[in-house]
Amino acid sequence: MSEEAQNAPRTAKAQTPPSTPAAPSALTASGAASHRAARRMALWLFFMCALVAAMVIVGGATRLTDSGLSITEWRPVTGVVPPLTEAGWLEELEKYRQIPEYREVNYGMSLADFKFIYWWEWGHRLLGRAIGLAFFIPMAFFIATGQARRPLSWKLAGLFLLGGLQGALGWYMVQSGLSERVDVSQYRLAAHLSLAVLLFALMFWLALDLWPARRIGRDAAPKGLRIGAALLAAGVFAQMTLGAFVAGLRAGRTFNTWPLMDGKFFPDGYFAGTPGLNDLFETAAAVQFNHRIGAYLLAAGAVWFAIAARRTGAVSRARWVLAAVVGQMLLGVWTVLAATPIALGLAHQGGALIVLATALYAAHGLTSARASTAAGRAAHR
Ligand code: HEM
Repeated sequence: MSEEAQNAPRTAKAQTPPSTPAAPSALTASGAASHRAARRMALWLFFMCALVAAMVIVGGATRLTDSGLSITEWRPVTGVVPPLTEAGWLEELEKYRQIPEYREVNYGMSLADFKFIYWWEWGHRLLGRAIGLAFFIPMAFFIATGQARRPLSWKLAGLFLLGGLQGALGWYMVQSGLSERVDVSQYRLAAHLSLAVLLFALMFWLALDLWPARRIGRDAAPKGLRIGAALLAAGVFAQMTLGAFVAGLRAGRTFNTWPLMDGKFFPDGYFAGTPGLNDLFETAAAVQFNHRIGAYLLAAGAVWFAIAARRTGAVSRARWVLAAVVGQMLLGVWTVLAATPIALGLAHQGGALIVLATALYAAHGLTSARASTAAGRAAHR
């Protein structure tokens, strides 16, 4: 075979759109002191994403075991110590006996059963504190050693504050179930889950910015595809918030049929009374229907994205998004048909974060080149 023929495929490959590690100017713009520092911080942020994912699952288990209202106070520091004596446990149980959930749902609950729900909530809060430390200590180290400079240091500090806000929002949610009602408000639950998902998304995106991976390059894809990828990621976020309303109203234990909802496409009972905007989030029929429609729109978007990305550097990322969305939908249908057993509810919740990660990875790959280009321009100004 002639030399030229031998080289033909390789040269052909060289013709495909370029994808190179971030230029030094992009590194400076990212705020990382060096490639090594960038890589170290990216690994740490990916680890933090895994911790937040674990926290979402533990939060889901705390909700699905009806444990979320077992601790009726919020002591961010001293609350880390659980009751250590019989008297301590009886004191906690006595506080729990004051709330509507005990009187109307768990009246006469034994100390052993109370300990079961208590440990779930305590474990959820403990993991929250551990995540706060697992973020704060490395962040302080990376900033103090100059590995993280502005704007990265500001971004990290902002993420830490958001994490603190998530803790406060968690308590604000619990408070909604301590006086008039036996469950927390679905609005506050949706806000708590959405802020957790936002934290996950921001850390994941920042980690991708820092991770010295191949970049598809903005010029390798039409503008419409870049916008489509960003809209898809936003759509997954919105669908997850709709899902939280399904969870918050225990709507997964109703209309356990598919594709119709008890024999109808549009379910009875969608509107609570006279049709109004907040009906969208007030009835089990409405929140489950909205979530189903959200899933179908997301699936259509993922199919469009996979087709539109065919001849671009984003084709494999687009296929991952489609596969994740289809898998999550099947899991969702199974969850609703089975009336939301704990294991399926948790699998579905975890699956949603995987869908989000694939959508963010695709959107980042298509838009990230802008960052390096802009940085390049900034560095040469
Ligand atoms: C890609 C599409 C989907 C995404 C991203 C998604 C995401 C989510 C999320 C984040 C939750 C909240 C979990 C929690 O707070 O614990 C949820 C709940 C739920 N979803 Fe989906 N979902 C999707 C499709 C579906 C479909 C197609 C169905 C059924 C037809 C479905 C049925 C449910 C049910 C029953 C719940 C309540 C589970 C519980 O109470 O723990 N989902 N979904």
